[in-house]
Amino acid sequence: MARTSLAKAVSLAACLAGQAAAYISNGTVIIPGASSYNGINLTPQMGWDNWNAFQCNVNESLLLNTAKAMVDYGLRDLGYNYIVLDDCWSIGRNETGYLVENPEKFPSGMKHVADTLHGMGMKFGMYSSAGIFTCGRFPGSLGYEQKDADLWASWGVDYLKYDNCYNQGQSGTPKLSFDRYNVMSQALNHTGRKIVYSLCNWGNDDPFDWAYTISNSYRMSGDIYDSFNRPDSRCPCTESIGCAWPGFHCSVMNILNKMAAIQSRSQSGAFNDMDMLEVGNGGQSDSEYVVHFSMWAMNASPLLMGTNVLTLSPANLAIYSNPAVIALNQDPSAGAAVRKWQYFLDPDQTGQGEIALWTRGLANGDQAFALINAANTSMTMNATLYDIFLDAATAGAYQTPAVLGESWDVYDLWGNRMSNTEAGMLINGTAPTLDAMSMSNSTSWYNATATSYADGLKANATALYGTKVGEMGPMGTFSATIGRHSLGLYRIRQRSGAGMRKRDEL
Ligand SMILES: *[C@@H]1O[C@H](CO)[C@@H](O)[C@H](O)[C@H]1NC(C)=O
Ligand SMILES: *[C@@H]1O[C@H](CO)[C@@H](O)[C@H](O)[C@H]1NC(C)=O
Ligand SMILES: *[C@@H]1O[C@H](CO)[C@@H](O)[C@H](O)[C@H]1NC(C)=O
Ligand SMILES: *[C@@H]1O[C@H](CO)[C@@H](O)[C@H](O)[C@H]1NC(C)=O
Ligand SMILES: *[C@@H]1O[C@H](CO)[C@@H](O)[C@H](O)[C@H]1NC(C)=O
Ligand SMILES: *[C@@H]1O[C@H](CO)[C@@H](O)[C@H](O)[C@H]1NC(C)=O
Ligand SMILES: *[C@@H]1O[C@H](CO)[C@@H](O)[C@H](O)[C@H]1NC(C)=O
Ligand SMILES: *[C@@H]1O[C@H](CO)[C@@H](O)[C@H](O)[C@H]1NC(C)=O
Ligand SMILES: *[C@@H]1O[C@H](CO)[C@@H](O)[C@H](O)[C@H]1NC(C)=O
Ligand SMILES: *[C@@H]1O[C@H](CO)[C@@H](O)[C@H](O)[C@H]1NC(C)=O
Repeated sequence: MARTSLAKAVSLAACLAGQAAAYISNGTVIIPGASSYNGINLTPQMGWDNWNAFQCNVNESLLLNTAKAMVDYGLRDLGYNYIVLDDCWSIGRNETGYLVENPEKFPSGMKHVADTLHGMGMKFGMYSSAGIFTCGRFPGSLGYEQKDADLWASWGVDYLKYDNCYNQGQSGTPKLSFDRYNVMSQALNHTGRKIVYSLCNWGNDDPFDWAYTISNSYRMSGDIYDSFNRPDSRCPCTESIGCAWPGFHCSVMNILNKMAAIQSRSQSGAFNDMDMLEVGNGGQSDSEYVVHFSMWAMNASPLLMGTNVLTLSPANLAIYSNPAVIALNQDPSAGAAVRKWQYFLDPDQTGQGEIALWTRGLANGDQAFALINAANTSMTMNATLYDIFLDAATAGAYQTPAVLGESWDVYDLWGNRMSNTEAGMLINGTAPTLDAMSMSNSTSWYNATATSYADGLKANATALYGTKVGEMGPMGTFSATIGRHSLGLYRIRQRSGAGMRKRDEL
């Protein structure tokens, strides 16, 4: 109970006060009250993981060629800086019990991979399982936690994805899972190297209820697959809480809707992980991928590209590269979105057919909202200020919050999507230069290496705010036509001028 009211107080404070102000100290975003157990990952990690596109077919050149392409395409400077090597990299343990990398896949050794990535301004992520084997039946780390952590630290590893296969039955209660995952948390800490700790236990035993004191992110669902909303019996749960069998083959809409109940468990330094992105893998339409990417960003999920970067199409690069959407993900508020309403209206082939409104308060007092149409036909959808500020309106004595009497400008966060021509030029290396696009007035690309998202938001960088498409007066409504299987994603900003209150009067 205490936790519930705390979460409520926190989200209320976030909504009314626009969150405690984040500030920059020596190039690092500092968020007062941040909960990161190891002081890092205050906004969600971004990068690439090979699993969705390559499974076990990994090697040194795949990692290094992908990293190079990510630098060349501007993805590193948008914030995608972790290269995460997933399962199937080792051949076993040596006589003294240390893991040995597969010499055919990694002929130069892992330290070489880490050093090369670091030289490119990227970071290196490693994979193992809190079990006797990994999911691909290579040696797991259960019982070898300190040895493995020490080895990874000696290689220069910056990130650990830690799976849940072959856990010897050490699961079934939150305490069993907590204890097992905590051993690696301690081991990483003892190395003295700052390592992002990413739990991958599929939402089993409700990690969103216990993992924030020992990790930086925690998967909250069974594995994603490249489908927008097709139900699959291997992913039986429709809610995350108490899901006894998380399974796999979970669709985008399945995972998204599992976030609705647990959104208060995303916090700075410790995020609900909705799993790696499928954008680019071919199973969804452009507008479905836009919903997928937008809602992972809205919910402060880690953003790990899960596709073959070397064959990325211009359209898919443009989705991954939208700085106005990434800026939601990297907002210093570090909170997830709230599903304010959901209705089932218009079934499509799969028996789904929902429309929904999701909203999120942002650190500077702006609000983001998404009108999702997962139904089968295009329709006019409406977002009211009352729904956007529902939490403020229903707090305490159900008083009308002052913000409902204000006027707001509405910005479409997909309004400046990079054109396919521009993205194609980045891919084939014929763009004039990224430097030209990274000028402070660029609308379609942003250099977060040069200026953090937090600083860019403060400076009103155009690329982070989309295009203005409307206004909402006091108690107003915003309406838009939203196509089948697509969304409208907006940021509203209080209008300056007459009648505008100072924030601390709210
Ligand atoms: C600021 O950051 C730089 C680069 O990371 C570091 O070398 C320096 O020691 C830091 N200064 C302080 C005062 O923390
Ligand atoms: C490395 O892996 C990629 C992706 O699976 C594959 O296309 C490539 O042939 C491999 N290269 C080597 C040298 O094994
Ligand atoms: C086992 O691997 C570790 C870490 O790479 C290394 O330091 C050690 O020398 C190896 N031991 C043997 C017996 O090969
Ligand atoms: C280890 O944990 C302590 C206590 O939580 C923390 O202050 C420190 O930064 C951690 N060190 C590393 C390397 O994560
Ligand atoms: C959904 O729309 C498509 C056309 O976009 C149509 O072929 C299909 O029959 C519709 N499904 C249902 C259940 O109405
Ligand atoms: C949005 O409002 C318009 C105008 O009032 C109405 O025609 C439309 O049905 C509404 N859309 C939904 C999904 O309720
Ligand atoms: C590069 O991509 C652009 C945009 O798609 C295209 O117009 C141009 O012909 C391409 N150039 C080469 C050399 O492939
Ligand atoms: C940015 O502004 C400069 C100077 O006004 C102009 O030359 C350039 O074309 C602008 N770039 C973009 C992307 O709007
Ligand atoms: C982004 O900014 C960094 C730091 O200023 C710079 O080193 C890098 O070249 C820039 N990237 C691009 C693609 O312009
Ligand atoms: C950014 O825009 C907001 C809203 O229009 C305005 O209040 C603020 O002064 C602007 N900040 C800067 C640095 O221009």
